[in-house]
Amino acid sequence: MQPNLLEKIVSLCKRRGFIFPGSEIYGGLSGIYDYGPLGVELINNVKQSWREEMFRRQDNIFELDSSILMQRQVWEASGHTSAGFTDPLRECKKCHRRYRADHLVEEGINPALAGKGGVDKCPNCGGELMEPRSFNLLVETHLGPVKDDSSLTYLRGETTQGIYVNYKNVKISMSAEIPFGIAQIGKAFRNEITPGHFIYRMREFEQMEQQHFVKPADAEKYFDYWKNERMRWYIELGIKKENLKFHPHAKDELAHYAKAAEDIYYEFPFGWHEMEGIHNRGDWDLSRHSKFSGQDLSEIDEKTGERFYPYIIETSAGADRSVLAFLCDAYDEDTKNKRVILKLHAKLAPYKAAVFPLLRNKPQLVEKAREVYLKLKKQISGPIVWDDRGNIGKRYYSQDEIGTPYCITVDFQTLQDNTVTIRDRDTMKQERVKIQGLQDILKEKIGK
Ligand code: GAP
Repeated sequence: MQPNLLEKIVSLCKRRGFIFPGSEIYGGLSGIYDYGPLGVELINNVKQSWREEMFRRQDNIFELDSSILMQRQVWEASGHTSAGFTDPLRECKKCHRRYRADHLVEEGINPALAGKGGVDKCPNCGGELMEPRSFNLLVETHLGPVKDDSSLTYLRGETTQGIYVNYKNVKISMSAEIPFGIAQIGKAFRNEITPGHFIYRMREFEQMEQQHFVKPADAEKYFDYWKNERMRWYIELGIKKENLKFHPHAKDELAHYAKAAEDIYYEFPFGWHEMEGIHNRGDWDLSRHSKFSGQDLSEIDEKTGERFYPYIIETSAGADRSVLAFLCDAYDEDTKNKRVILKLHAKLAPYKAAVFPLLRNKPQLVEKAREVYLKLKKQISGPIVWDDRGNIGKRYYSQDEIGTPYCITVDFQTLQDNTVTIRDRDTMKQERVKIQGLQDILKEKIGK
């Protein structure tokens, strides 16, 4: 891992239009980030790759887009309003800074102030810390004109709950039979005590979650299946195997709903941390929603005639955390020429190719290059970018820095024989090809 990698990525993201601090002109808003033009392309490509995986490659999974706001009872049934969805908070008696108690212990912030078993003095001012208390992470809001207890609800803390409340709707309307899955991508909100590490821990973020409804006896089999499938997805999209591992949860680490859980960990610049969770949620969710809503969400086993609540195997990935991992893994430096190469998988790269005229002051070259560019834009489903700034070397480097896998140059030979050069970002090798076959060659290279 390179020194200061996270700082370098934060700077690249801002400089090249990937990710900006939220509300920046007003001084920023902790834990909130905005995606710029290239960031939108990147995160959309991550989400699209996940959708392709779930709905094309896997079998029997249905897509949903449920609302962010739900009945408050949903969060009571799910256990999120009670102790299950809290973090331990410690506040400084002197400067009133707040810390997550487990992070003070884990990260040993300012070890000089650490007492036995972690920190007992404020890392900021050395003041005494209050005893830990539970802090609920749900973000509250009110619906309707009257702001009182009856109008209180929450921005969803996970997308999953929208799937459970629609379980019967999807099952009946799609004639789905167990085992089957429901998956959705969407925003989630958590009032994190200490957001940080750029887009790793945010207060508004995006999840890509899939819930597989299975017979209780099949739960272990599906848990293993999904663990391996999800790991494969990251590797196929270019993350180096050595930067990934499974982290099984010990009994005392399990979330309130989980019978078993394993995280996919990535080695971020700040250490090994969770990127996705695979959970065996048992019958917690459907039994609780049945109880709280009064609607029976159980099923009948056709063979035995017995009623059962389907077990749920959940795959819960963060779109933003995946983006951060893909950026960290792709970041490379050419130290000799002091430049950055973002070796993103072509499927994830914001631009699939750039088209240049060799010289911008030669109208014949510009005209021919525009022709190639406009044609490719129609032929290739991913974005193609035009670039005629500076000299050709600078253009190559500029495209390398944002991960564009291929650069196509129209030069004087093009005017003679209708060929162009294609330069590969990672090998820097150029090949000369006919314009006529360009779209097929590019499609083959970028897998579209
Ligand atoms: N439905 C289960 C669930 O939400 P989780 O482990 O709390 O489980 C799942 O979250 C994933 O959502 C995490 O692995 C992470 O990728 C993402 N995530 C959770 N909290 C996040 C935050 N504050 N900022 C960014 N991503 C977050």
